[in-house]
Amino acid sequence: MDDKKIIFSGIQPSGNLTLGNYLGAIRQWVNLQNDYHCIYAMMDMHTITVRQTPAELRRRTLELLALYIACGIDPEENIFFIQSHNSAHAELAWVLNCYTYMGELQRMTQFKDKSSRHAENINAGLFTYPVLMASDILLYQTDYVPVGKDQMQHIEICRDIAQRFNSIYGDVFKIPEGMLPKVGANIMSLQEPTKKMSKSDPNPKAYISMLDDMNVIAKKIKSAVTDSEGVVEYREGDDTKAGINNLLSIMSSVTGRAIDDVANDYAGKGYGDFKADVAEAVVETMRPIRAEFDRLMVDKKYLTDICAKGAESARRISGRTLAKVYKKVGFVI
Ligand code: TYM
Repeated sequence: MDDKKIIFSGIQPSGNLTLGNYLGAIRQWVNLQNDYHCIYAMMDMHTITVRQTPAELRRRTLELLALYIACGIDPEENIFFIQSHNSAHAELAWVLNCYTYMGELQRMTQFKDKSSRHAENINAGLFTYPVLMASDILLYQTDYVPVGKDQMQHIEICRDIAQRFNSIYGDVFKIPEGMLPKVGANIMSLQEPTKKMSKSDPNPKAYISMLDDMNVIAKKIKSAVTDSEGVVEYREGDDTKAGINNLLSIMSSVTGRAIDDVANDYAGKGYGDFKADVAEAVVETMRPIRAEFDRLMVDKKYLTDICAKGAESARRISGRTLAKVYKKVGFVI
């Protein structure tokens, strides 16, 4: 094994991917593939904490893989697998459940949010979800976890659980670190820009789906909520500027230019010009991804072969960690 560090991350195939998922997560992954050993999963086991339609979940899981590849992550160089294809995740999650406190889990923002949105189904899986996520990460002796800002609290709890386990049994787990993109770590809703852009938002105008038609993407950006000041300027923490801050972050992220440089282009111009340019930049970023996605989805066998190969590698790597854990806690192996 060389001395490249290990990256692990994943996305839930629970809805159409948004521009937030792309800019917060996948886009950073593309840039990491040459310098790290990267493992990316389709997190199907996490999705059933909320009710799913089985046929849709199956379809979305393969679509997610096609999107990873269409965004430029090379399936020859990186490991892609479906979480439920590697039972080590569920097995380690059980063990780590016994090393995680109810109080820690009760503080998780995502649990509080989801349990208020799905009050009719506050199941135990929704509560222990961060333990499964910790298992995903720790099984691969991961160094870095590239995610958007909303997942950082889950990475903190993962580190706490790993440190607790190591303090009892010695160095079993590598302590991972979260990795945020410089811009785009927190893309906001286009309709309520103080709220995160989310694939589960009931208002489709609030988010851009990576599978939206190009004219729909442009329309949604052009109708994004802004303010009446008419000045294209980034003001961190100023909620009245949340809409413009968000569009500037999106523009900076898709073009790779600094936020202030982008803002300078619009001195003395109105929001109409700015929005039209953001719309065009996003559309031009999404167009080739969409074309590649459509091409990949025609060949299901190509996609399922990648999953089979990836699952084999994932099982091999994670098996070493799981065996160590079982031995440490006293299971006969
Ligand atoms: P998920 O599926 O909700 O989101 C996937 C990734 O997209 C990022 N993201 C965003 N980034 C910026 N702005 C937004 N509006 C935005 N919305 C989503 C998320 O931060 C994430 O990086 N629990 C995870 C999935 C998971 C996982 C893991 C991730 C399960 N096990 C192990 C890393 C490692 C989740 O629900 O992400």
